[in-house]
Amino acid sequence: MKKYLVIGNPIEHSLSPKLHNHWLRENNIDAIYEKKLVNKTDLKDIINQVREGKIAGINVTVPFKKEVISHLDKLTLDAEATQSVNTILLAKERNNMIIGHNTDIGGFENAIKDTKYNFVGKKILILGAGGVTPSIIFALYKMKVSSVTLSNRTKWKAEHLKSLYNKTKVVDWGEIPEFDMVINTTSVGLKNDEKLDLDFSKIGKGKFFYDVIYNPQETNFLKTGKDLGNKTENGKKMFIYQAAEAFKIWHGILPKINESLLN
Ligand code: ATR
Repeated sequence: MKKYLVIGNPIEHSLSPKLHNHWLRENNIDAIYEKKLVNKTDLKDIINQVREGKIAGINVTVPFKKEVISHLDKLTLDAEATQSVNTILLAKERNNMIIGHNTDIGGFENAIKDTKYNFVGKKILILGAGGVTPSIIFALYKMKVSSVTLSNRTKWKAEHLKSLYNKTKVVDWGEIPEFDMVINTTSVGLKNDEKLDLDFSKIGKGKFFYDVIYNPQETNFLKTGKDLGNKTENGKKMFIYQAAEAFKIWHGILPKINESLLN
């Protein structure tokens, strides 16, 4: 039986196995998908297991999306541009090369398409500069936003991302420039009581608050946005769509999208 993995650290809360195993069963594919806690020093060995055919494919999550790149043979253009890989496979038709893909970009794009929000000409503020942030910036520029401003508690990480996308502006943590949409890509809110130390009280109404976090469903960040009279959306659909795109890459089938899969 073919084996697929999601690797990360921490990994215990990952819902990827639930989604992928459901789709494997639904499509009568004889394979299993498991989660595995790994350390940086395990990456080489685990990628070698893909090379040897012991593992058929890997999803990569925090904090290894960039780290894993040095162990791969080739990246897709999107993975190259974002320096971020979340899906790995052995391409038999390409001389057994190990290829790194990025399906977070498509995941975000498809999730936003579903909200019917029109990004063209919009000013976007991104909070955080972690593993998923480059993919979101890349997707936003593809969707023709007018500007992207980055704010991260540790400013040099935002400056570093700016070197990948030089149109991007960076502001100090705590500074809230005018925006149409604000996206939380920090890990603040994963624990129910956590709250960003930012003041949104002067931003006005009619904005869009998006949180990459989907568990809990409504973070304090989204609650604040809603209480101030703004549109909100969590990261659940992005998560499902990135998984669906990975499934398509591995199995050649686009699985059925059903939000209740994660309830
Ligand atoms: P990684 O940095 O390993 O990629 P991540 O979970 O993808 O991990 O990213 C964590 C993000 O949440 C970072 O942008 C982090 O900010 P720092 O770069 O300053 O660490 C941000 N973050 C975590 N805790 C935070 C807090 N209490 N306040 C503000 N930002 C926080």
